Order: sequence, then structure tokens, then C-alpha cells
Amino acid sequence: MSALFQPFKLKNASLRNRIAVPPMCQYMAVDGLVNDWHLAHYTSMARGGAALVIVEATGVAPEGRITPGCTGIWNDDLAQAFVPIVQAIKSAGAVPGIQIGHAGRKASSNRPWEGDDHIAEDDARSWQTIAPSAIAFGANLPRQPREMTLDDIARVRQEFVDAAVRAREVGFEWLELHFAHGYLAQSFFSAHSNQRTDIYGGSVENRSRFLLETLKAVREVWPEDLPLTVRFGVIEYDGRDEQTLLESIALVGQFKAAGMDMISVSIGFSTPTASIPWGPAFMGPVSERVRREAGVPVSSAWGFGVPALAEQAVKSEQLDLVMVGKAHLANPHWAYFAAKELGVARASWTLPAPYAHWLERY
Ligand SMILES: Cc1cc2nc3c(=O)[nH]c(=O)nc-3n(C[C@H](O)[C@H](O)[C@H](O)COP(=O)(O)O)c2cc1C
Repeated sequence: MSALFQPFKLKNASLRNRIAVPPMCQYMAVDGLVNDWHLAHYTSMARGGAALVIVEATGVAPEGRITPGCTGIWNDDLAQAFVPIVQAIKSAGAVPGIQIGHAGRKASSNRPWEGDDHIAEDDARSWQTIAPSAIAFGANLPRQPREMTLDDIARVRQEFVDAAVRAREVGFEWLELHFAHGYLAQSFFSAHSNQRTDIYGGSVENRSRFLLETLKAVREVWPEDLPLTVRFGVIEYDGRDEQTLLESIALVGQFKAAGMDMISVSIGFSTPTASIPWGPAFMGPVSERVRREAGVPVSSAWGFGVPALAEQAVKSEQLDLVMVGKAHLANPHWAYFAAKELGVARASWTLPAPYAHWLERY
């Protein structure tokens, strides 16, 4: 009996298996607006059998986009454009989710295949970035952000709330807050990027404040019966890992108390000098520890795109949900492929009949 193909229920979201598509920026939007590219892309993976498809990091404000090609949800017109995507994901039997975020000091960047660095400041496409402190990330992202005022902090928190309301209005059934990867929220938590001396900096309690306040404010507007999840970098691989993990696990516990339903365990990416031990399924043991010590349902990504590894992560209770990213870009029908590979009976149930009927036969 496959663990990966057991259904999973979180609040009122019923997942047909434990396979999820994590948010993956496409950098194909224009002024934040999604288009046919996004519709085809997200539909293909929902048809392919994944149980949950989370739409890419979507900016809560124009300056919160990573690149000019990133999607946005800072007004109703942008939000409405997601309706066909939401409907297509649902009609293929998957749960439609979206990740909302603010890129902070990593915003105003070029697309990965156009440099992955900050857009030059004299380029008309660039914009002023904001962050907890006026400290640049460094390396390929040298631009110094403007330190946020208390008004900025209140405004961005409200932008998250407004984005959550719009996401619900257009039918998303799963909301993920992007508190990871060195973007704005993560950069409040990390001492690499936060050197404030007010109530938003210094102690771990103060560095956690923006994240907790934002989560609580979003929980008030996001329906109680639908999942609200957080993607958070619990570890930096910067040599202070045990301390960061302990602080992170404590914060995940506070997220849970504030109404978070699941944590997506990820990496901090707060400093260019980290040395990350990349490898197949390498976040499994860290995820298991967060799951056990914080007592929350856990998902994670990074190298689980081999069916046996994904199966093992669920079976050994490291993960409740496995995020399979790049392997879905290579094969949108990854879930069907995994079912076949794992010898799941009637593997084709993960595919809609117009495909399943033929593939089951031949
Ligand atoms: C093209 C691309 C875009 C990504 N965009 C996002 C994003 O919008 N939000 C996010 O949290 N992670 C993002 N990630 C990270 C993925 O969600 C995932 O963690 C990563 O691809 C590792 O999983 P994998 O080994 O299965 O690909 C992105 C990754 C890729 C390859």
C-alpha cells in the first residue's frame, strides 16, 4: 500500500494523494497580470494527478515582485485574471492554492535567465526596494534597500490581508504565506538582514513580530475552514544551524497557535555565504524534526522528485505532503508516472478519463 497515494484532508481541503506542486515563478506575467502561459502551465499539472497546485509567489504590491515578470494580486483586475486558472485546476480534481509574498530586498531583479541579478538602478524597469534594515543581500543582489518605517510595516501587513481577501474572492482554497527564501518576511526573522533597534528587531521575539502579526491579520480574513499555510526557512546552513532551528521551531509553534494549518519547511536564503548540503531529499530529516517538535503537519520540497524518495518521506513520517517542483516541469503527469513506478493499483485513476482510458490499456 503506497503512503504517497493515500488521501489527505486539511480543514475542508480534500487532497487525492500526498503530491503537491510547490509555487514556482514563471516570470511570464506582464505588469503582474497572468495570461495563457499560466493557464496552460497550471492546468497541465492538475490534469497530471497532483493533489494540490500552488500558484507561484504572487506580489501583494508592485514593489513586492521579485522580477517585472512576476504575478501580482494587488488589485481586483489582477485577481480576476486568476479565475480561469482556479477553475481549470479544480475541474482536473486538484485543490487550487496560491502563495502570496513580498520580495523585500531581493525585489527589482532580472529574470533568472536574464541574469538573476538586480536590475540596474538607472534602468526604467527597476524600483526602490524596502527591507527591515538598509542592508543589501550582497553577491548578485547588491542594491541597498530602504529601511522600512513603522508605517511601511503596517502598510505591507495590510497588503497581505487585502491579497488574501482577493485570493479567496476568486476561488483559491489554499493560501500560503511566503515567509521564506530571504524575501521580506524571512528578512525580518534573520539577524543577517534585520538590525533594527525598535520592536521589530533585536530579540527573536522582536524579529518574529512582523511574521506573527501578518499571519494573525490574514487568519482573520481567510476562512476558518480553509487551509492557511506558511513557507518558512527554518535553517540557513550558515554555521549557526542548531540555534536557528530551535528559534524556528519555537516560532512554528507560535504560527500554529495563531491559526496556521501546515508549515512548508524550507531554507532561509538570507546570506550568500551559506553552504547548503544539496542532495536528494536532504530536507527530510529537518522536516521530520519540525513536524515532531512543533507538532504540526509538514510539507517540504527540494529533491523529492524521485517516486521512491517521495514515497519514503511520507511512509517514514517525515512529511505529510511532498512538494515536487522541477520534476513537474519535466513531466506534468509526474503523479501518474509515480503511481506506475510504485506499482499502485489502477495507477491511471490519477489521470482524467480521456487519458486514463488509453494509458491503462496500453
Ligand atoms: C522555476 C522555479 C521557480 C520557483 N519559484 C518559487 C516561488 O515562487 N516560491 C517558492 O516558495 N519557491 C519557489 N521555488 C522553489 C520551489 O518551490 C522548490 O522548493 C524547488 O524547486 C525545490 O524542489 P524540487 O527539487 O522538487 O524542484 C522555485 C523553484 C523553481 C525551479
